[in-house]
Amino acid sequence: MVSNMWPDRRLLDLLGIEHPIIQAPMAGATNPELVAAVSEAGGLGSFGAAGTPPDRLRATVGAIRQRTNRAFHINLFSAHTEQFDGDARPGPGLSERLAAYHSELGLEPVPEPAPMFGPAEEQFEVLLEEGVPIISFHFGADARLVARAHEAGVKVLCSATTAAEAKALEDMGVDAIIAQGSEAGGHRGTFSVDYRQALIGTMALVPQVVDAVSVPVIAAGGIMDARGLVASLALGASAVQMGTAFLGCPEAPIGDAWRASLLAAEAEATTVTEAISGKPARGIRNRYIDEIESLDETLLPYPAQYSVSRVLRKAANERANPDFIAMWAGQGVGLIRQRPAGDFVRDLVVESRQLLARLAQK
Ligand SMILES: Cc1cc2nc3c(=O)[nH]c(=O)nc-3n(C[C@H](O)[C@H](O)[C@H](O)COP(=O)(O)O)c2cc1C
Repeated sequence: MVSNMWPDRRLLDLLGIEHPIIQAPMAGATNPELVAAVSEAGGLGSFGAAGTPPDRLRATVGAIRQRTNRAFHINLFSAHTEQFDGDARPGPGLSERLAAYHSELGLEPVPEPAPMFGPAEEQFEVLLEEGVPIISFHFGADARLVARAHEAGVKVLCSATTAAEAKALEDMGVDAIIAQGSEAGGHRGTFSVDYRQALIGTMALVPQVVDAVSVPVIAAGGIMDARGLVASLALGASAVQMGTAFLGCPEAPIGDAWRASLLAAEAEATTVTEAISGKPARGIRNRYIDEIESLDETLLPYPAQYSVSRVLRKAANERANPDFIAMWAGQGVGLIRQRPAGDFVRDLVVESRQLLARLAQK
């Protein structure tokens, strides 16, 4: 059996999967087709549910189940991060820029700030009711929800960006830690310190997290192929979580401009910015990031900052205009390849096996 090849079976047994390959949950960039293709190939398919209202989330779980009987995983942004400040209003610089972009694209007036991602507690209830086997949280976890998940027999994962965060999550009962290095695409999962303090590369972060906790560790950030997977195992990780690499799969529901930018980008194209959502996240630099970062004023808090560009981003996406969309991507982007997700997982398994064998011979 191919699955016997993996040296560390702890996470495989915990989650009931064949290969230590987790397709990252990516809000807005995952769908049942992608999730099921990865799970069917023996990895763990994952859906990023931030921004999916409870009813649609229930339907999404059903759509995944229609396509696979295997384990899959759903991710939520932690409830405490959804503290929407209804009084927050954009400053004069941001208002002026947004109005100018709307008039450039001939759009309706700039929308008022609005909540974006919740309600996380209602989403969580749907996941328990639907018997989703594995739930993960981003931006820290809530001990009460971890305990409720465990009562229902659900496994819980959560991202950490420092060893101290990993330890805090383990103390809360989280079953496995996703060590998210600074190379990672998308939002930084940092929840305990200023994010600038926690921009720790995967190579440095993973072994320190492995030493700090006794639960299995999942390496994330910049892992694009068998070389990254095998290196992560050498660092002590029990599995990898890969996001950017799966954006190259045709199943990933991303717009043409984002896809073209990913295929053209090299590692230096990305940046960590708060300009888009109000929270730090890594994506491909574009006109929006450049011009909003250059404003000399405090931006709105998350998620209000994200919400005021929602009409602009949607229109830009529909028109394949890369200037105004959020093109999340990690520093491994220069290694992205276009391959159906199932083939990608199967190739990754074969190539990792060959690489492990080659290293063992030397
Ligand atoms: C487009 C995109 C969206 C993401 N959305 C989420 C999300 O909704 N929840 C989450 O926990 N992580 C999210 N992440 C972060 C991933 O879980 C993971 O940390 C990251 O993809 C790993 O780095 P890599 O992109 O270099 O593989 C996202 C990443 C990307 C690229």
